[in-house]
Amino acid sequence: MRYASVTDRLHGLGGAKWAVHAKARALKAAGAEVIELTIGEPDVPTPERFIQAAAAAMASGRTGYSNGRGEAGVVAALAARYSERRGRAIGADQIMCLPGTQTTLYAILRTLVDAGDEVLIGDPMYATYEGLIAQTGARMVPVPLHPEQGFRMQVADLAARVTPRSRLLLLNTPHNPTGAVLRAEDIRALGEFARQHDLWIVSDEVYEDMVFPGVAFASPLDLPDLAERVVVASSISKSHAAPGFRSGWCVGPAEFCARLLPLSETMLFGSQPFIADMTALAVSEPSPVAAGMVDRFSHRAGMIAKALDGVAGLRVHLPEAGMFVLVDIRATGLSGTDFALGLLERQQVAVMPGESFGDGLAGWLRLSLTQPDDRTAEAATRIARHSATLLGHAA
Ligand SMILES: Cc1ncc(COP(=O)(O)O)c(C=O)c1O
Repeated sequence: MRYASVTDRLHGLGGAKWAVHAKARALKAAGAEVIELTIGEPDVPTPERFIQAAAAAMASGRTGYSNGRGEAGVVAALAARYSERRGRAIGADQIMCLPGTQTTLYAILRTLVDAGDEVLIGDPMYATYEGLIAQTGARMVPVPLHPEQGFRMQVADLAARVTPRSRLLLLNTPHNPTGAVLRAEDIRALGEFARQHDLWIVSDEVYEDMVFPGVAFASPLDLPDLAERVVVASSISKSHAAPGFRSGWCVGPAEFCARLLPLSETMLFGSQPFIADMTALAVSEPSPVAAGMVDRFSHRAGMIAKALDGVAGLRVHLPEAGMFVLVDIRATGLSGTDFALGLLERQQVAVMPGESFGDGLAGWLRLSLTQPDDRTAEAATRIARHSATLLGHAA
């Protein structure tokens, strides 16, 4: 039988990047004691208060059909939150609720780009972005992010890759996998570039509430003169330890939302009112769990740097936000994949190979910071031991 070409474009872009993780899970299922530093799930359960809110909403009959934009309560709560955070009025007609950042980005790209267009995207990048772009038929144009520049996108690197077919700049701040946070001046420069080349700016800000102390978050939504070309996507998955609720949204120009609405209606026919009610509560007050995660994750990043930076040929790149830390293993001469597979086999530690996040992270590892301190410390000891063995050093 014949299948649509999108299935070919997405072939190999799903599970292949997670092969080490899948292998670790198989080993664990067979009884092995693996320390898993692969995926980034919050290290606390969804706060009871939000589970109760969703359950109470269900019990009170909030289980009917909704609408394609989102329930009025959560839309109003998000409009208030973004107006306050971004320092300018954001109306309800500028918000659309969708199931998680992932679906939101899918729908945004569907709304903004066509086959033949080009999407500029930092490399390394979050592992699903390649597929998100590929589903549209647009061409992904990787823009290298350099460790010496803190992995923050530079206008000169964009300028070398922009063409008349460039349509959209996909930003992610705070960034996964590098933990980089774009500064206000970066955003200003990137915004000016986008204006000159008439590009949309789509900014994935799912880690907004997980910025480490000493760094200030900035968004392209902060700049009123970019308002017509900026769309921000986010969710409660990370900030409220609630990824399974699949509750996300985007904020953009009213016309953009009006264009996205029929797409949302066609895809979803609305989402769940009880999740909308829980989300309205969640986004109306400071997260009860984000600050704790920031404390623990920044502390563990420091622990890993202390244990591994300059040890057995390894270098650690400290994150400014989020749930991950990067380790440069290029001195071993191995790819991230080969290092990660050997580490899993010999030391029972599972990490993500940098290659899963683009060519720009070949020869690196991404470690999640979500395991307890003692497990994280033990994993670091084993990583140092593995690297020392590869280099022929005594561990
Ligand atoms: C950068 C980035 N964007 C989006 C997502 C997916 O978020 P959501 O659960 O809101 O779909 C993740 C999850 O890890 C992520 O790291």
